[in-house]
Amino acid sequence: MANIAKTSLALCGIMLFSACAHQQPSSGRDAKIEARIDSLLNQMTLEEKIGQMNQISSFGGSIDEMHDLIVKGEVGSILNEVDAKRINQLQKIAVEESRLGIPLLLARDVIHGFKTIFPIPIGQAATFDTTIAYSGARIAAVEATSCGVRWTFSPMLDISRDPRWGRLAEGYGEDPYLASVMGAATVRGYQSNKLSDPTAMAACAKHFVGYGAAEGGRDYNSTEITERKLRNVYLPSFKAAAEAGSASFMTSFNDNDGVPSTGNSFILKQVLRNEWNYDGFVVTDWNSSGEMVVHGFCADNYEVAVKSVNAGVDMEMVGYSFVKELPEAVKRGDVSIDAINNAVRNILRIKFKLGLFEHPYTDEDLASSTLYAESHLQSAKDAATKAAILLKNDGILPLSDNVKSVAIIGPMADAQHDQMGTWVFDGEKEHTVTPLAAIKELVGNNVSVSYEAGLAYSRDNSKEGISKAISAARKADVILAFVGEESILSGEAHCLANIGLQGAQSELIDALAQIGKPLVLVVIAGRPLTIGSEVEKANAVLFNFHPGTMGGPAIADLLWGKAVPSGKLPMTFPKYVGQVPIYYAHNNTGRPVEGNEVLIDNIPVEAGQTSLGCRSFYLDAGWEPLFPFGYGLSYTTFEYSDIAIDKTEYGKSDVIKVSYKLTNTGNYDATEVAQLYVRDKVGTVTRPVKELKRFERISLKAGESKELSFELPVSDLAFWNIDMKYVVEPGDFDLWVAGNSQSGTPLTFSVK
Ligand code: BGC
Repeated sequence: MANIAKTSLALCGIMLFSACAHQQPSSGRDAKIEARIDSLLNQMTLEEKIGQMNQISSFGGSIDEMHDLIVKGEVGSILNEVDAKRINQLQKIAVEESRLGIPLLLARDVIHGFKTIFPIPIGQAATFDTTIAYSGARIAAVEATSCGVRWTFSPMLDISRDPRWGRLAEGYGEDPYLASVMGAATVRGYQSNKLSDPTAMAACAKHFVGYGAAEGGRDYNSTEITERKLRNVYLPSFKAAAEAGSASFMTSFNDNDGVPSTGNSFILKQVLRNEWNYDGFVVTDWNSSGEMVVHGFCADNYEVAVKSVNAGVDMEMVGYSFVKELPEAVKRGDVSIDAINNAVRNILRIKFKLGLFEHPYTDEDLASSTLYAESHLQSAKDAATKAAILLKNDGILPLSDNVKSVAIIGPMADAQHDQMGTWVFDGEKEHTVTPLAAIKELVGNNVSVSYEAGLAYSRDNSKEGISKAISAARKADVILAFVGEESILSGEAHCLANIGLQGAQSELIDALAQIGKPLVLVVIAGRPLTIGSEVEKANAVLFNFHPGTMGGPAIADLLWGKAVPSGKLPMTFPKYVGQVPIYYAHNNTGRPVEGNEVLIDNIPVEAGQTSLGCRSFYLDAGWEPLFPFGYGLSYTTFEYSDIAIDKTEYGKSDVIKVSYKLTNTGNYDATEVAQLYVRDKVGTVTRPVKELKRFERISLKAGESKELSFELPVSDLAFWNIDMKYVVEPGDFDLWVAGNSQSGTPLTFSVK
């Protein structure tokens, strides 16, 4: 390999007018790397080039079977290898036995941790803490790279306003700004300061784009997103990832307005390359290329390969149409050699940046000292602690020293596998600490702990165990009921039409509530749930999106007040599934709601035609959600006061300085997530009633006050307007600083 690297450098001087020299390196590119790519490209056959554009999945299959493909140069990347020894063996074949010695890029879905599992991304979003996203990704990269994995398919940046869609678990929720900052921090965490850092793992911003808006919340379904909505809502998180340097992008499965993303040159060329100047590479989703035949967008695999590459795809994941069809397509002139060269150039650039040519191999002894390191477990616990959201508390939490006995009930109390959440290929349940184990450890002999699951798993409909659970509960001072969803109920392809508690969990809660003892619900789930009636029956509700390996110790600390909840909802919780989509940044409509009436029972029998209500809401559900975006309680209370802006009129290049005072008015040291929202009152197109523009976590001692501020450049008020231009339109604005999306009183200002 060293020889080839030397040859490449030696050749670079004479390769300026190579087959690809037409492509002007964009600013910021490394001239040495571009020259090495030129050199390699000039030595590659068409088949070898197309091989770089091909990713296969192995799932630990036979190395012998992959041997010949790698030697031929028919494979550029392998997915689903995680053993350092095997990765080194595969890499050795590529480096020593293939003609040009181009190293492989080894990929894996490392979504919220490799071995040490962090809260699922929607849970990380609930922390409103970019340092959590960064450190979770950094630790995931340190662990995965110790096994030789250098590319992950994360972060998922799909905005979703539909809790039926199982994949919302993998993303950062309904809000473009929150998803942008969390996503960018995740990219930085994976990639470290430089891709050449041996612990850096190339990120992949996915699924480009609109996938989270799948019709009816059914995975893989079509979307109908207008260009303006795409630009205002669905693209910003991807743009933030591109700006953070995400090495790759993945296309999505959905067709938007009839065009599957994998064949959509508007998003892949116009937006990604021309407007954003992106110079990483684009991979398809798992055979999303081949699925264009099923969509009815391509007649056969020949057309698949042609349409994908011409749309701007660089690498095909597992579909194999590129290898089979592109040689002929180039011969016939349906795909130009320039298009192939550009794709290979984009892929090789990342391989060079990762330092794979210099250091293709992994230290096989590294993993043992890296995986599940104590510092990783502590970070995972910190993330799970900050991600928990207190939805209700009548004062029972935190549990006092007077509580001498607790009954731990419910299918999620001791579910080592399920609390890890979706997309866990590598984390082992044996390392997961459940709430049951952690509570026993925390309280020792001071509190007597009894445990009766009542139901074996979240979908369990058998009520046989409930009576035992009730007898245990009767004997305790406080009942802690752990309910929610198994990990398999969310994630890819796991969408639900009913987002209430599954199985007999509601009956279990009902029976527990009737005992008359204090009842604390601890929910562990992968999505917002319609749990209004269960919340009513409980004295307190602590909600956790699947919290990962260290979820148990985090929850135990929170219940006993060793930590104070500070998470906020990254998605609106509906009361009924029929309210979906329900999200805070909706447009006002011409008939906005004024109250939250539920009118269904007030309608007279045989009422004549009437425009009763006359507003945009449901007769039987009113308008309000169960809990709004940004909501979350603490053991203390916070008061916002003295909210002010430095001017009432701003120019377009000004910065709005917002000052406010936050006081911890309760008895616990705690952290609040202060949120800044804006409304653009009149636009050339209608604008959302509120948009999150900034947030900050503020820690205050009990009784403490702080004078705080936000700075918001007026340029951050820009949006894609009637002329499809990204501009700040002059006019009047409202501005709120508050603890959630539905509280606070607005200040007003104008932009000239
Ligand atoms: C998913 C992607 C994932 C890929 C590889 C697909 O089914 O949609 O998110 O990265 O598989 O496992």
